[in-house]
This record gives sequence, C-alpha cells and structure tokens, in this order.
Amino acid sequence: MNRPLIADVYCCAGGAGRGYGDAGFDVFGVDKVDRSRYPYRFAQGDALEFLRRVVAGDIVVDAVHASPPCQARCAMTLGTNKHLAPNYDDLYDETRELMQAAGLPGVIENPSARPDVVLCGEMFGLGVLRHRNFELVNWSTAKPKHVKHRGRVRGYRHGQWFDGPYIAAYGKGGGKGTVQEMQTAMGIDWTDVHEELTEAIPPAYTRYIGERLMAHLNT
Ligand SMILES: C[S@@+](CC[C@H](N)C(=O)[O-])C[C@H]1O[C@@H](n2cnc3c(N)ncnc32)[C@H](O)[C@@H]1O
Repeated sequence: MNRPLIADVYCCAGGAGRGYGDAGFDVFGVDKVDRSRYPYRFAQGDALEFLRRVVAGDIVVDAVHASPPCQARCAMTLGTNKHLAPNYDDLYDETRELMQAAGLPGVIENPSARPDVVLCGEMFGLGVLRHRNFELVNWSTAKPKHVKHRGRVRGYRHGQWFDGPYIAAYGKGGGKGTVQEMQTAMGIDWTDVHEELTEAIPPAYTRYIGERLMAHLNT
C-alpha cells in the first residue's frame, strides 16, 4: 500500500517531519534555509510559494504540516522584546489561508494556532515540557487531556536554582539543556545543531497527530 505524502513546510531539521514518518507518511520538507540534516526529501525554498503551487495543483500531496516561525508572536516578542517584532516575518495568517484554500487536511503548529490539540512532553514521558498548539485544517480529532507534570524545569529562575525532571530546550546557560541533553529529552539524534534542536517539535507529538491524520485519510 502506498504511504500518503505529507509536505512539511517550514521544516527546519525535521523534528515534526520525523513524527509523521514514524506514523507511516512519506515526508517532503521545505525550508528557506539549507537543512542538510533533514531526514527525508528536502527542497530549499519559500514555504508560501510552495503552498501557492499546491493550491494551483502544480504540486500534489495528501496533507500539509506547517510550522511558520513563531518569533513575531511568541511571548518574549509580545512582552520584553516588543521593539524587535517588526524584524520578524509573520507568516501565520497567509499560511493558514493557503492551507484552507488547498482543501487538504493540514496541521499548523504555532503559538497563535487555534489550540485544537495541545501537546506537552509529559504526555509522552519526555524530558521537556514544550507545550505546543496544533490547529487542524479541514479535519478534526478529539482533544487529548493535559497530564500533571512530574516536577519543575531544571535551572535558575530569578536567581534561584530549581531542580527537576525536565530541561529547558532553548537558550544557553542558567542550567538550560546541553545539545546532548536536548537530543535525549526530545528523541532527536540526527542533528546536533543547537538552533535546530531549540526549534524542533519532539517527533512523539507529530507521531501522535500523524496516526490520527492517517486514520482520517483512511476513512
Ligand atoms: C519553528 S522552525 C520549524 C521547526 C520544525 N517544525 C521542527 O519540528 O523541527 C521554523 C522554520 O521556518 C523556516 N522559515 C522561515 N521563513 C520561511 C519561509 N518563508 N519559507 C520557508 N521556510 C521558512 C526557518 O528557517 C525555520 O527553520
């Protein structure tokens, strides 16, 4: 049986992509930066241009996952770093419009995404909390329940040290995770690039969503 093809746009090194591969999809990644460690077929290019070609029917895929960059809308930019907001592209609205127009089942991961599914590392026994919102486009599935955390994220907060079962998989210093700790905590062993790990969705998240998307495509 053919594996359905999912386009993973704004793919970075493929944290999200790997979960769809594990769920049984063929995966094709698109990113404006050369991501040579991406574990599947990859094209360097503009995600919106790629989606316009999907809408036009030039490119045929069965589903789309998009992780548009979140810097423009993340908590830091809306608060402390408000002055930096104009430096960041805000691609979320146009990405969503194009995915709706494509008429294919899609998944958008972004802080502004409608929280149809919200996942946390503890749901999968991971060493990060990394709450992430997933908006489902042109399909739906049941919203899973959040689970209680086992403890705190390790590191300094306002000068005070906290220990805990989770690492901070962003930034450096203050007890934040090392590259090796981020790899282990998220289940990612094919990139050791700090920036790619800080951007990554743990594959367990998209495996969970991918299995439900696969069931939807099979109905
Ligand atoms: C949040 S990261 C994606 C993380 C990825 N989903 C993962 O799990 O590893 C966003 C990515 O979007 C890429 N990007 C930003 N603007 C883009 C554009 N216009 N077209 C394609 N890629 C873009 C960045 O290079 C970055 O790799």
